[in-house]
Amino acid sequence: MILTLSHQKGGVGKSTVAWNLTVNFSKMIPTRIVDLDTQRSLTVTNALRREQGLEAIEMLHFTTAEELAEYAAADSDGVLTIIDSGGFDSAFNRVAIIASDLLITPVSDKPFDLMGLQKYEEILKSLSEIQGETIKTRVLFNNINPSMKRFGELVDFICTSEHFDLLVSVLRQRVDMAHSVGEGKSIKEYRVFSRADQEMDELVEEIKTLLDIK
Ligand SMILES: Nc1ncnc2c1ncn2[C@@H]1O[C@H](COP(=O)(O)OP(=O)(O)OP(=O)(O)O)[C@@H](O)[C@H]1O
Ligand SMILES: [Mg+2]
Repeated sequence: MILTLSHQKGGVGKSTVAWNLTVNFSKMIPTRIVDLDTQRSLTVTNALRREQGLEAIEMLHFTTAEELAEYAAADSDGVLTIIDSGGFDSAFNRVAIIASDLLITPVSDKPFDLMGLQKYEEILKSLSEIQGETIKTRVLFNNINPSMKRFGELVDFICTSEHFDLLVSVLRQRVDMAHSVGEGKSIKEYRVFSRADQEMDELVEEIKTLLDIK
């Protein structure tokens, strides 16, 4: 099974969410992470994790998009591979999008997020034409002000696009999100039962249903 956190817009939380999902799922089923981010954020996070005396996450690196495509073609149902795609359009990211059983696109409620999603829709549209099937991603509201209740035009856009579906789970803006990653930990390992931890658990449950993970 392949799950990709993908958006050509930077800074939306792809790496943060990919990291937390990988650590949480690794306690349930064999889970690997692929770091396609040129900044290698999660490779650094994994090294920090080792320094904390925690068991490192199994991490894969590919030197070419063809290698990633080969890995994806040999994918098995018993292993979950989570891909942190880079924040731009590249051959690597396109392979990841096509190979995924589930695509998740984090977006915030900041100015330009709607514009970012419209740009990303263009990429999904062109890939769908090449593939001959409609590629869909699940939009995850992330880094949302805790008091924010309505998402207005973003939701309208998501609901009218054939390339987007909205996840029920919402991740609010929580300081633990940045602090935990800075220590190579998931939110749960950093502070269990926090609101951030509960929100991440809800997301994990939603993904388990979507991917039929028991
Ligand atoms: N729910 C959240 N609450 C608070 N801070 C968050 C949350 N999600 C992400 N952040 C912060 O937002 C910033 C961007 O997150 P992250 O690096 O995960 O984004 P990205 O999409 O991977 O960016 P890039 O495209 O540059 O790789 C980081 O400082 C991270 O700590
Ligand atoms: Mg990143």
